[in-house]
Amino acid sequence: MDKLKVAMVGCGGISNLHLNHLASFDDVEFVGFMDIRSEKALEKSTMVGGGKVYDDYVTMLDDAKPDVLYICVPPDQHGFIEFEAIKRAIPFLVEKPMALDMELAYSIRDAVDKAGLVTAVGFQDRYLDIITKTKELLKGRTVGLVDGQWIGGIPNPYWWTLYSTSGGQIVEQNIHLFDMLRYLFGDPARVYCAGARGIVKREGYDLHDYSSTIITFKNNVIATLFTGCYRQGKLSNNNGLNILCVDANIRYLLRESVEITTTDGSEMFIKEVNQGVTADRAFLDAVKANNPALVKSPYADACKSLALTLACNESIATGKEIILD
Ligand SMILES: NC(=O)c1ccc[n+]([C@@H]2O[C@H](COP(=O)([O-])OP(=O)(O)OC[C@H]3O[C@@H](n4cnc5c(N)ncnc54)[C@H](O)[C@@H]3O)[C@@H](O)[C@H]2O)c1
Repeated sequence: MDKLKVAMVGCGGISNLHLNHLASFDDVEFVGFMDIRSEKALEKSTMVGGGKVYDDYVTMLDDAKPDVLYICVPPDQHGFIEFEAIKRAIPFLVEKPMALDMELAYSIRDAVDKAGLVTAVGFQDRYLDIITKTKELLKGRTVGLVDGQWIGGIPNPYWWTLYSTSGGQIVEQNIHLFDMLRYLFGDPARVYCAGARGIVKREGYDLHDYSSTIITFKNNVIATLFTGCYRQGKLSNNNGLNILCVDANIRYLLRESVEITTTDGSEMFIKEVNQGVTADRAFLDAVKANNPALVKSPYADACKSLALTLACNESIATGKEIILD
């Protein structure tokens, strides 16, 4: 396989990022773009200088016969797209969150497994050089408490402000940090989450403005994560994680740096590598080599992060702690 034929469904904001990365690879050929807003598909085809625009997704798969598919649709639009790709044995990269209920996510996971397909989920931060460094710094250290946050305003996408279309801020956005906790500390055992409303006054908005989550991991690490979308202006939010080890503080500043402080002093590492490029390259290399192990966030693993964030929603709704499998 010299060139990989790439097709894309959902041609909005995040597709720009993937396309910029893919266009920098010399083994990629764009063969199809589909979006329910056809002007978006045309925009992306024009942006990369090629690739037929389709108004029907199934026709695109059958006509363009892509080697890989990028699925970049809103969170509530999954299911049909994945199953049509799986039926045709087309490996796919799907953006997080990959579904808004675990029944659907697990049925896709099981179908992927049965078909033996390479898949990837857009947890790009797993490919950060500073996260590799964080893992190195954590080696041999004992961690008790972790705290962290993803606080900001309300993002632009038209589907973002409703639970039914986005899943809420934890599921849609802070899922990156929840996934990072899993990547660094393993499987969670239970989770409790409190959420509140009342600050954001806006038509067509039913999300919680902020929430606080306590996760107990199977290895007894306890993490507290803040999530908030009620802030305005350019306030510094210090998003990221504080990891309190027995003999060190490790501060991961979201997609920027990691700093370790011990009694001997501090050392700071600044991000040097574009994690999005690395993530897309890893997926394509995994497809070319038919080696799923090259992907750091395959569909089955990503299901565990999705389940954790959906359990937060359940905890907010019920007021109860949720025990995880
Ligand atoms: N990995 C990351 O860091 C990251 C960053 C941003 C967004 N995302 C995720 O990417 C996904 C898309 O987000 P976005 O910001 O690009 O949103 P967006 O609204 O900008 O783009 C989504 C596009 O999908 C199209 N669409 C909707 N339903 C469709 C369907 N059934 N078939 C074909 N096209 C359809 C829309 O018309 C729109 O153009 C979301 O799940 C989001 O959480 C991931």
